[in-house]
Amino acid sequence: MAEPGIAIVTGAGRGLGHATALALAERGYRVVAAARSAEAAEKVVRRIEDAGGEALALQLDVGDPRSINDACERVLPLIAAQWPGSAIDVLVNNAGVGQFAPLAEVTVADFDLTFAVNVRGPLLVIQSFAPHLSDGARIVNLSSSLSRHVSPATAVYAASKAAIEALSRSLALELGRRRIRINTIAPGPTATDFNGGAMRDNAELRHGLGQQTALGRVGEPSEIADAVVALVSPGMRWVTGERIEVSGGVLL
Ligand SMILES: NC(=O)c1ccc[n+]([C@@H]2O[C@H](COP(=O)([O-])OP(=O)(O)OC[C@H]3O[C@@H](n4cnc5c(N)ncnc54)[C@H](OP(=O)(O)O)[C@@H]3O)[C@@H](O)[C@H]2O)c1
Repeated sequence: MAEPGIAIVTGAGRGLGHATALALAERGYRVVAAARSAEAAEKVVRRIEDAGGEALALQLDVGDPRSINDACERVLPLIAAQWPGSAIDVLVNNAGVGQFAPLAEVTVADFDLTFAVNVRGPLLVIQSFAPHLSDGARIVNLSSSLSRHVSPATAVYAASKAAIEALSRSLALELGRRRIRINTIAPGPTATDFNGGAMRDNAELRHGLGQQTALGRVGEPSEIADAVVALVSPGMRWVTGERIEVSGGVLL
């Protein structure tokens, strides 16, 4: 019988990445928990191991091209030693930042950081890891419902998410030759630390955003994580180059 597949998740230390790493481990994936701090990555590994799963910690700053290169070079021998015979079947580019400001207050530094983490990061992670992914692997990039609808002060963030969708479609064609599927999951407002934890901690905002969805509330991290798990499953084997919104029907 084939060894269980490996799933790499960036930004696994908290929020949607954390939930996704746990959900993939629960479904039997061996998880590489990549986080900006080594301590955060180790913590996720302990959590997965305590639940009976298998995981490896990886320090990775997706905003730093050298860190991406180094992380790839470091993790491949670790994978080969710890999980011989296992293939990297799933890559989830989850790490992301949101710098929200109205036009007059947008800074070059915020623009550069947003695009470095949300667009260049996933591109370089895919470029580094692509030669080491199994044929038939699945890549999921995190977009946002804000690439479809408009909210105040989100122009730069929304543009970065539109860019990751375009990038995903193009790469779906290139990597499709190896049967690798690439799709984006576009969450709506979800209760995490994102935007200062506003969607989780600000009752008024939660209520207001909830009213904008067909299902009447903001999302929970596990609901995005479960969608990622579903998207990488064999039932979705004919889906590539797509954007799938997971938002409870926000601003339909
Ligand atoms: N929550 C929402 O409502 C929502 C909606 C639509 C889309 N999204 C997208 O979903 C993804 C996850 O968001 P979230 O809600 O989980 O946000 P979050 O709670 O703020 O977590 C962001 C994650 O990204 C990581 N990260 C940020 N910059 C990084 C870098 N340079 N290198 C490595 N990791 C980095 C963070 O690591 P540290 O702990 O080291 O900071 C953290 O793990 C993002 O791409 C976001 O744009 C979220």
